[in-house]
Amino acid sequence: MSTKPHHAKAARGSAAPGSSAASGPNPEAGGAPALRGGRFTGGLDALMAEINASIGFDRRLYAQDIAASKAHCAMLARQGIISGEDGDAILEGLDKILREIESGAFAFETALEDIHMNIEARLTDLIGEAGGKLHTARSRNDQVVTDLKLWVRDALDTLDGEIKELQAALIDAAERHAGTVMPGFTHLQCAQPVTFGHHLLAYVEMAGRDRGRIIDCRTRLNESPLGAAALGGTSFAIDRDDTAKALGFDRPAANSIDAVSDRDFVIEFLGLAAIAAVHLSRLAEEFVLWSSAQFGFVTLSDAFTTGSSIMPQKRNPDAAELVRAKTGRIFGALIAVLTVMKGLPLAYGKDMQEDKEPVFDAADTLSLCIRAITGMVKDMEVHEDAMGAAAAKDFATATDLADWLVREAGLSFRKAHGAVGRLVKLAEDKGVDLAGLGLDEMRDIEPKIDQRALEVLTVERAVESRTSFGGTAPDNVRRAAKEARGRFL
Ligand code: ARG
Repeated sequence: MSTKPHHAKAARGSAAPGSSAASGPNPEAGGAPALRGGRFTGGLDALMAEINASIGFDRRLYAQDIAASKAHCAMLARQGIISGEDGDAILEGLDKILREIESGAFAFETALEDIHMNIEARLTDLIGEAGGKLHTARSRNDQVVTDLKLWVRDALDTLDGEIKELQAALIDAAERHAGTVMPGFTHLQCAQPVTFGHHLLAYVEMAGRDRGRIIDCRTRLNESPLGAAALGGTSFAIDRDDTAKALGFDRPAANSIDAVSDRDFVIEFLGLAAIAAVHLSRLAEEFVLWSSAQFGFVTLSDAFTTGSSIMPQKRNPDAAELVRAKTGRIFGALIAVLTVMKGLPLAYGKDMQEDKEPVFDAADTLSLCIRAITGMVKDMEVHEDAMGAAAAKDFATATDLADWLVREAGLSFRKAHGAVGRLVKLAEDKGVDLAGLGLDEMRDIEPKIDQRALEVLTVERAVESRTSFGGTAPDNVRRAAKEARGRFL
């Protein structure tokens, strides 16, 4: 490595192609003046500027940052910590900055490191000296965690609405297919006939738990860190209840050190996102299987499939595959933040700046996946005949025959299980299904079997008979869909 003096490295470092540092002002100018004022005489290495800056991604916090600054400013004025006149100028300046950012006129500067300093510097440009008073009795440490909590809270609300839409699409389809018979699988082996509506309602329950986790996370995160300042609180007579209320928090966080160093809410958010992504991935995987020629249970719409560049006949379930694959990014985000946090001493450490990209990416990815799966559910064409035919194969009603032997012939379940196993073996050897065996052949194996036993072997009878609470019978599914509508929508 080079042993050249510090300033010589700066010029070289700024050449990194496509880096955020390269697009900002010359870092040799000294970095954010507001941050280095007084203390520093040397300039910032270009690599330092590049590794240090977060404006490339945390600009997404602008609306939350401005909202939190407005709440803080109004409180400072109310408490007499700044004058009413300065307070008004700050509020006006912040509104102007919001408009500048939203219209695309705002010039973000890498040298100003992050969204907080970019906004504060612009405020001082706009209103002069008074702009410098906004940061009284706060720190970027309480500021950034306040902003991020507000952002995650919004993301939770958006995701909750999107998952609810998915539930609505699933419930609609479940009602249409309350009586559609499909093979139910265990080990991906045909197990027992179930109804397709029942299968879809399983995903409605999963989505309901995802929404429960969203509410838990939202409730727990909803304490305001603002006013914790750098870590120890402040000597100014601030009113933390006031800012908490203004920002829709339930209360101020009780401990200032915890307030600035807590990222549990990020981890909880990513944890619930990871679980939700697992659910979407499982449904996506089912779509991939069901839409294959080997299953032929559904056709995904043109809107959610692609063609092949070489094979003209292909209809590939790309959207489903990508939902399945994008789960990896969300898991990655969770592991990234767990790893960032696990060795951090209290209170704030710059490490925590690495929490944001995973949060943004996971939120964007999850939202996209939910919406894509919802589209697939709404558009899917269901091939009831293929599902029904597959359900009737592979001795799927063997359990029903065993149950009949228990109920009507008084066998213990274990004995009935053994007898039906021998019947399946015989049928398999003969290349027929259970109904294809003659009654005499069956009686040779289990003498208590009579004509009535043959009736339980149809898939329709099998699903109709499963009326236990939460079971697959069409009437149950109709009732369950209605109940789910009331509970979730
Ligand atoms: N950009 C920083 C972050 O995301 C803001 C907080 C900076 N605080 C500090 N003490 N340097 O964490």
